[in-house]
Amino acid sequence: VVPPTPRESRAKPGCPVSAGNLSRQKTARGESLGPPVARDEQGVWHVRGYSETRAVLRADSTVQAGFRAEQVARMPGTMRPPVLYGRGEAHRQQRTEIARLFTPVTTAAGYRRFMETFADALVAELVGRGRADLSELAMRMAVQVAAQVVGLTNSRADDMAKRIEASFDQKAPPRRGLAGLLEATRNHWRLATFYLFDVRPAIRARTRTPREDVISHLIAKGYRDLEILTECVTYGAAGMATTREFIAVAAWHLLEHPKLREKFLGAKEKERHALLHELLRLEPVVGHLYRRATGNIAVESGGRTFTIPAGSLIDLHLYGTNGDERAVGEAPLHACTARRPAPGVQPYALSFGDGSHRCPGAFIAIQESDIFLTRLLALPGLRIEKPPTLSLNEVVAGYELRDFIVAVGR
Ligand code: HEM
Repeated sequence: VVPPTPRESRAKPGCPVSAGNLSRQKTARGESLGPPVARDEQGVWHVRGYSETRAVLRADSTVQAGFRAEQVARMPGTMRPPVLYGRGEAHRQQRTEIARLFTPVTTAAGYRRFMETFADALVAELVGRGRADLSELAMRMAVQVAAQVVGLTNSRADDMAKRIEASFDQKAPPRRGLAGLLEATRNHWRLATFYLFDVRPAIRARTRTPREDVISHLIAKGYRDLEILTECVTYGAAGMATTREFIAVAAWHLLEHPKLREKFLGAKEKERHALLHELLRLEPVVGHLYRRATGNIAVESGGRTFTIPAGSLIDLHLYGTNGDERAVGEAPLHACTARRPAPGVQPYALSFGDGSHRCPGAFIAIQESDIFLTRLLALPGLRIEKPPTLSLNEVVAGYELRDFIVAVGR
């Protein structure tokens, strides 16, 4: 029998914190609950079960339909798609070629030192000022780390963070009239400034002297400037916007729960990463993944086989999958540091996706969050002055935390 929706229940015995004190999910407002697999009146398939979602993500006959992929595909002109929108053999090959930039070994040798120095500087800035907006500090951390991987290192860091934020904060322009023209012009202007001030200088520097990063790789493969710009924008959404929100949400849980904070600060790196994985399971930054079926897809669920027909849009609900008790165990809507998921289930559940588009930046994201948070949370007297406001980010179909004021000292 398949439980229709993730249920709340008592925490597992053996959880180090008693059930009443466990930190509860914060960001799932407005998420619709429902059965593991269902089709709505418009013909859209909604998948909420863990194994059912994983089966869709691992199916060969799907293409990306999230992150505005279908709008971008309708734009005129021929371009090689960024990795996030890629498909088939070309995508597989691209993934294999860039995999070396994301391994734990590369991260340790190439970016760890940078992460530590940059996190120290951000925390020193907070101490100097006495208070800061944590969502802004997290943004700068996430942008700068992903910029090292991508190769966006030839412009002023803080100015670039603002331009990147603006470039993925694009609104779909109204179809007609002056309002549409103005919005479209504004969108082009945002992209143009990101290209001129950040992407083009990076391309020029790497054309002269290639380095170990994504832009150098794309230049070697003969990508045109516009294709490289598009790739940089998708890294902005997939790598920077996501990590920024995760750092903020993890800090929110840890600051509100002194025992959890104590446990985090007293733990070794491996256990700290495990705790961060559990928080990411609870608060999936990308709330929905979307796919378009290119062939029929058979999904087993509770002894039934559903056939999702070719051409269907599929909405994969990650709050549902990550709260599926069959996969993650009891108390799925709480952070439990002793959680033991079912065999084969990742501790962060499907927060990094699965299948061909699975997040290559997963290790980097956890490493940088850990490095920043250990420094931040070790500050004596650090406290929340104003909890963040919660809104929806339409590009990643997930939460956005803003205006999160923390303070140190008296
Ligand atoms: C907590 C932080 C992060 C979260 C929650 C996250 C989540 C995800 C998810 C769910 C996907 C799969 C999208 C899909 O299946 O449609 C994805 C893909 C991707 N992520 Fe991440 N990500 C994070 C950090 C990063 C970082 C730090 C980088 C790079 C430095 C990165 C680069 C990418 C790229 C390039 C893809 C596209 C891969 C492909 O389509 O083949 N991500 N991410």
